[in-house]
Formats: sequence, structure tokens, C-alpha cells
Amino acid sequence: MTPSGLAHSPAAERNRKPIGEVLLRWLAPKARVLEIGSGTGQHAAWCHALLPGVTWQATDLPEHLDGIRARLEVEAPALPVPLTLDVTAQEQWPEGPWDVVYTANTLHIMPWGHTPALLERSAERVRPGGLLVIYGPFRDGERFDADSNRRFDEQLRQRDPAMGIRDVLKLRQEAGSFGWTAEAEIAMPANNRILIFRRNE
Ligand SMILES: C[S@@+](CC[C@H](N)C(=O)[O-])C[C@H]1O[C@@H](n2cnc3c(N)ncnc32)[C@H](O)[C@@H]1O
Repeated sequence: MTPSGLAHSPAAERNRKPIGEVLLRWLAPKARVLEIGSGTGQHAAWCHALLPGVTWQATDLPEHLDGIRARLEVEAPALPVPLTLDVTAQEQWPEGPWDVVYTANTLHIMPWGHTPALLERSAERVRPGGLLVIYGPFRDGERFDADSNRRFDEQLRQRDPAMGIRDVLKLRQEAGSFGWTAEAEIAMPANNRILIFRRNE
């Protein structure tokens, strides 16, 4: 919490600017974006300030909804109210069609078994030619970009064996089986990456 009373993530505060710079290059000015796992809503609010013509639908598990709603009421009242969305709950996915599904720092938190649901449901709701944009730390097979990521992976697995930094090679393969083609991989500060997939036409 900050003095403003809003839920706050220091990591989101640090990474929102470089993420926003990438999104400015990839998103059309009036894109319809579905965000998964919005957390504190900081990315939604920041991106709304950068790209006010974009419709940004924040979503998350129920325990985050009040915090996101409170932030958006203050910082981005023009955005739609946040929705409950657990990627594994088919009926919670808003229909769309969306131009972009965006998610940050979620794949290493949700069990790997949830990723196919995210990839499949996103592909069903993003228009052909639309994008899936994923921010976070990744590894290539067993190789980590940095010792800090290896340590982070160990900490995550100690906290919950279902968590962990995901293998980008496996993710690409899985995404391909649901109709996504890997289009770009962008190195981000602090050994993070943005992975961009395009929905097959
Ligand atoms: C580390 S936080 C990242 C929050 C925010 N995107 C950010 O970058 O600051 C991980 C988020 O993933 C969400 N999450 C975990 N499992 C999920 C699931 N099955 N469906 C949707 N969101 C999920 C959590 O609720 C949490 O908001």
C-alpha cells in the first residue's frame, strides 16, 4: 500500500516505463487489449496514460479486483471496470474479439499447467493477426540469462513447487500448437523479456 491507500508494486513501478515504450511501438492507437493478471492495475493505468485511445480491459483473480478498481477509479476512470478472470475458468473469459492479450509476470506464478488454457483461450478471442504480448523472466532450456534469475527461480520453487521461471523454447512450442507464431523477443531491463506472438490468419 502507498500513502494514497492504493495497492502498489515496486517492480511494476520500475518496469512500466520500458514496457510502455515497447507497447507504443506494437499497439495500434485504438487497440482493444485484454490484460491477464493485472495485479495492482499499475500497467493498465500507465498504458492508458500513454495510449488513451486504447481500450484496456484489466482482469485478475477475485482477491485483486478491489485494488485494481480503486486504482483505475483514481488514475484511469475512462477504462472499463476490471473483471474477474482466472485463465482456467472458460466462462470468465470476456468474448472480444481482442486485438491484443497482454500479461506481465504471470507465467512464473501460475502453474505451468495453466499456460495452455491461457494460450488456447487467448487464441480463441484474439482476432486473426492479433497479438499475445508476454512480459517476464524466461530461460532457454536449462540456461538462465543471469544468476539473479536462477536465484529467483529457486526462491519461487521453494515458495511453491508449481511456480518457476518458464522455458521459452517450451512456451513457443506450446503456443504454436494453439495457433500462435513467435514474432519477436525483446530484451528488457533486469534480465526480463517481452515475447510477442501473432495469431495465425
Ligand atoms: C506477480 S503478479 C503480477 C501482477 C502484474 N501483472 C504486474 O506485473 O505487476 C502475478 C499475477 O498473476 C495472477 N494470476 C495467477 N494465477 C492466475 C490465473 N490462474 N489466472 C489469472 N491470473 C492469475 C495473480 O493474481 C497476480 O495478479
